[in-house]
Amino acid sequence: MNYFKLPLLLLLLLVTACNSISEKSGNSENWWKEGIVYQLYPQSFKDSDSDGFGDFKGIIEEIDYLDELGIDIIWMNPFFESPLVDNGYDVSDYRSILERYGSLEDFKQMIDLLHSRGIKFVLDIVVNHSSNQHEWFKQSRSSRDNPYRDYYHWWPAEKGEPPYRYSIFDPEGAWKYDELTDAYYLHYFAAEQPDLNWENPKLREEVYDIMNYWIEIGVDGFRLDAFQFASKDTSFPEFPEGHEKDFIQWYGMRPELHDYLKEMNEEVLSKHDVFAVAEGAGKTMKDAHELVDEDRKELQMVYHFETVDMAKQPNSFSLKQFKEIFSKWDEAFSEKGWISVFLSNHDNARMVSRFGNPNPEFRTPSTQLLNTFLLSMRGTPYIYFGDELGMTNIDMPTIDQYVDIQAIGDYKKAEARGEDMNAFMEYLNYSSRENSRTPMQWDETLNAGFSTGTPWKKVNPNYPSINVAQQEADPNSVLNHFKKMSQIRKANKVLVYGDYEIIQEEHPTVYAFKRFDEQSSHTILLNFSETNSEITLDEAFEGKTPLINNYEQLQIESNTIVLLPYQAVVFDLTLE
Ligand code: NOJ
Repeated sequence: MNYFKLPLLLLLLLVTACNSISEKSGNSENWWKEGIVYQLYPQSFKDSDSDGFGDFKGIIEEIDYLDELGIDIIWMNPFFESPLVDNGYDVSDYRSILERYGSLEDFKQMIDLLHSRGIKFVLDIVVNHSSNQHEWFKQSRSSRDNPYRDYYHWWPAEKGEPPYRYSIFDPEGAWKYDELTDAYYLHYFAAEQPDLNWENPKLREEVYDIMNYWIEIGVDGFRLDAFQFASKDTSFPEFPEGHEKDFIQWYGMRPELHDYLKEMNEEVLSKHDVFAVAEGAGKTMKDAHELVDEDRKELQMVYHFETVDMAKQPNSFSLKQFKEIFSKWDEAFSEKGWISVFLSNHDNARMVSRFGNPNPEFRTPSTQLLNTFLLSMRGTPYIYFGDELGMTNIDMPTIDQYVDIQAIGDYKKAEARGEDMNAFMEYLNYSSRENSRTPMQWDETLNAGFSTGTPWKKVNPNYPSINVAQQEADPNSVLNHFKKMSQIRKANKVLVYGDYEIIQEEHPTVYAFKRFDEQSSHTILLNFSETNSEITLDEAFEGKTPLINNYEQLQIESNTIVLLPYQAVVFDLTLE
């Protein structure tokens, strides 16, 4: 044995041990893991020039509000040049800003201001498809030998009708015939959103240039819209019967997707301190892991759809299922990789209307409970604007009130299937994404203080009882609870990186779990019920003051706690 080598060996062992500890605790530390993301839907946030449409100057006016929330990152939905067929997810120029939001100067001013408050900015990049008004598409459709032809997917009509492809928005399917060149083009979403051809390296280079352009301007990250569809089987085989609509299984996530992401990482992400989060986590857990495995150098984060796919029908929420989904995803990423945690966004109904209780009696505590949950789970929490107030679904019982392309498309599809349209409207009223796009409720004045013009979308009539002004003045409001909870997450890193362990998984009404590491241990108790719930735990809680409690009282007797309706408490049980 060479004794000179012994200290080196010990050092090596120590380093390996340290590495495995840090990997175990959710791998390396990072700002985008620790940050609280606030999703801001710009059309509906604040209108500064009375055109009924939110804008950058409106956001600038509310900088103190954003700062005081304690959020760290803003993800803003698309604000680019667009005919707005799908509210901006149909981009006609990726480098220009839609005038209604303001100028590039306004945008830069907004970003600088956010940065000066320590808030990062994430842009929504929509590159599975563009608008049919994009110059690329105009060129592409103009002739079969145009240099941009291969920027999209075309099926020449002489080959006969293309194999059926379901479209998420278009009741006519995903192929649209275009007379000009006697060919069909592919569009997984609306006919106005033709799918881009990622097999074409020129297209990919264009996208990376666009991403680098926005990084130069100051953005700190990207949300990749519908990106798992970017790689598809372009031999366009017929799908086995019965699988024509099996979107996740058949329509995207081809192995080449990883190659594109690696390339994107090389060309863009790895060169800067930015992160990318993909919409969708693939078909399987393996897919999800591969997308965010740090060693593979693809993405930093994904978000899965299992939570949004649950509780789609009125009164269908199941706490058992909710616990199972969150525990399963946490477990899968406990050693490696990172996910996001969210309960709502612009494509879903309001958080409190689906997972909590929007009735006036329980709206406040149940929203507080859901925000406590989001801010105490492992993963980066994404808070959808208005959920910090407990904004609810809006009542829209008839189809003529809807403007959203998806809602209208779904209605037509249901009609064509001969469904009971009354039942369908009940479903749509509850689950439609229009519910979450209503303007921000600032105060009790005209249009909830969102705009002095005519809002592009009706304000929820409940704004006199749910608004920022009123909640700022009430120490027990949903808003003030949110602010407190965001500070607690920041002050307790164990809530970000610590291990997660569910307690009494079978409890019918209480979701209880621990977050812990070598130094500390927190217990979170959430009563998802309109009535009191009792839970007996291993630890004695008597004499312990919770870090946060959405009621003034807390009934504890030794190891037993009786939680009030939707009571949510976080205990720091770290032993001194
Ligand atoms: C997902 C976006 O979140 C949604 O709003 C949009 O309609 C589709 N992708 C198409 O871009």
